[in-house]
Amino acid sequence: MHSNDWYKDAVFYELNVRAFCDSNGDGIGDLPGVAARLDYLKELGVDALWLLPITESPRRDDGYDVSDYTRIYPPYGSLSDFRTLVAEAHRRGLKIVVELIPNHTSDQHPWFQASRDPGHPEHARFRDYYVWRDDDAGYKDARIIFVDTEKSNWTYDPLRKAYYWHRFFYHQPDLNYDNPEVQRAMLRVVQFWLDQGADGIRVDAPPYLYEREGTACENLPETHAYLKRLRAFVDAYAPGTMLLSEANQWPEDVRPYFGDGDEMHMNFHFPLMPRIFMALAKADRAPIEAVLARTPDLPPQCQWGTFLRCHDELTLEMVTPEDRQFMWDFYAPEPRMRLNLGIRRRLAPLLGNHLARLQAANSILLTLIGSPFIYYGDEIGMGDNIWLDDRNGVRTPMQWEPGPNAGFSAAPAEALYAPVIEAEPFGPARVNVQAQAADPASLLNWTRALLRLRRQHLAFGRGTLRLLGAAHPALLAYLREYEGETLLLVHNLSAGRQTFTLDLSACAGRPLADLLHPEAPAQPAPAAWTFDLEGYGFGWFKVGDDTIPS
Ligand code: NOJ
Ligand code: CA
Repeated sequence: MHSNDWYKDAVFYELNVRAFCDSNGDGIGDLPGVAARLDYLKELGVDALWLLPITESPRRDDGYDVSDYTRIYPPYGSLSDFRTLVAEAHRRGLKIVVELIPNHTSDQHPWFQASRDPGHPEHARFRDYYVWRDDDAGYKDARIIFVDTEKSNWTYDPLRKAYYWHRFFYHQPDLNYDNPEVQRAMLRVVQFWLDQGADGIRVDAPPYLYEREGTACENLPETHAYLKRLRAFVDAYAPGTMLLSEANQWPEDVRPYFGDGDEMHMNFHFPLMPRIFMALAKADRAPIEAVLARTPDLPPQCQWGTFLRCHDELTLEMVTPEDRQFMWDFYAPEPRMRLNLGIRRRLAPLLGNHLARLQAANSILLTLIGSPFIYYGDEIGMGDNIWLDDRNGVRTPMQWEPGPNAGFSAAPAEALYAPVIEAEPFGPARVNVQAQAADPASLLNWTRALLRLRRQHLAFGRGTLRLLGAAHPALLAYLREYEGETLLLVHNLSAGRQTFTLDLSACAGRPLADLLHPEAPAQPAPAAWTFDLEGYGFGWFKVGDDTIPS
């Protein structure tokens, strides 16, 4: 693995500390619990762990409501536990990515408490840390993001007798980036986490840092200028640290977050994600083709982050209203499955707990552009609980064993931060790490094998992508090429067995080695290749250099 751009070859694993492993039996997962499971993650074959927020917070948004940027949320452990986790991860060659939530704090943050209260001894210093107005008339062109819970981006504060601005929950006031003190304060937070040994930082909700009248208050030039300053600081202070941006935007609006390679190293590809689900639902590659055609090239040091699911609802913000309705009808038939402009379900239930379909989705994730992110539990096909509040239904305890609390915690079941998924077929009796580790045909062992294979070919993380045309819409085929290595990937997006014909004139005569069946001898690629794939079947091939003499 190259050292300074390790993120280009990496597979990331996103995990909620609260949900992963409880080391002290209080019902809440913690940092020592994560440390105790590092061997599992190493064996899975991931390279970097992205930890959801770990700092002090009233947790009305699972830690994205920060009340202290540098103190660990006490149930998770201490700063020394964090440093131990970093050291143990590094000893195994794993990287640690932490969260930076620059846009807003909790209303419980001491900055906000001082800002809202004219009688507070520090009011003068913090008065302008947040965005205050006498009325709620400003910035009318900014959309509301949490449409199911919030009616306005302004909330009245009776103490300050004024309105404060917030893009997310009303209890998450936006910081005022026009205030140079705020700009500096956030860089000090970054410095703190670099000092603790973090290898990367996931920057939450970057589009919303600045507000300007008459705009949508997203992606403003001032915001990009600040993010470039953040990057320059990180490069100077801890070179090699990776910045991962969560700009949930159309590809052309995301492109500026990479700058000229002087802003963020990575950004999630939000528009791609729902189109993978659409392509599988429609047995048609067209949605993926369309979004790739709209995906800009990136500066050399930059990389897309790709994912199927994460800790939030499956967002449908970056699709047309018609496509959103299609996705809701197909993947969220029950109203309770819908949340905001999205779907609060996990990967396995979304795909009907159908092993071949899950494998096809994961194969696309692992072989398309960018560096893939796996959401904890999806490697064993965990289920969800749509009846839990907000997005908590996709944040339930990791299922390690078939026994009590699924091996997540020794606490009494009623003391767990959230109930273990019990509804079959997703209960721990069937879905758990221990059983799948022992079953060669399990999703877990399949994932391990594919991650092992993926890391042998730099073209997956670094290569160009060329889509190949075919008459059959259910065939998704592409070449990945990097430094003389060519890989051919084919996927059947439909449920039934199909015979496909693929135009392979680009590689005609060169040997095709089947990476998934290495025992099979390489065959020369025909100019037009006719082959069968089972329902949701796929193939990974290496296209050799030499022409096989006939
Ligand atoms: C995006 C995070 O992924 C989400 O969980 C959170 O609620 C919002 N940002 C607000 O911080
Ligand atoms: Ca605990």
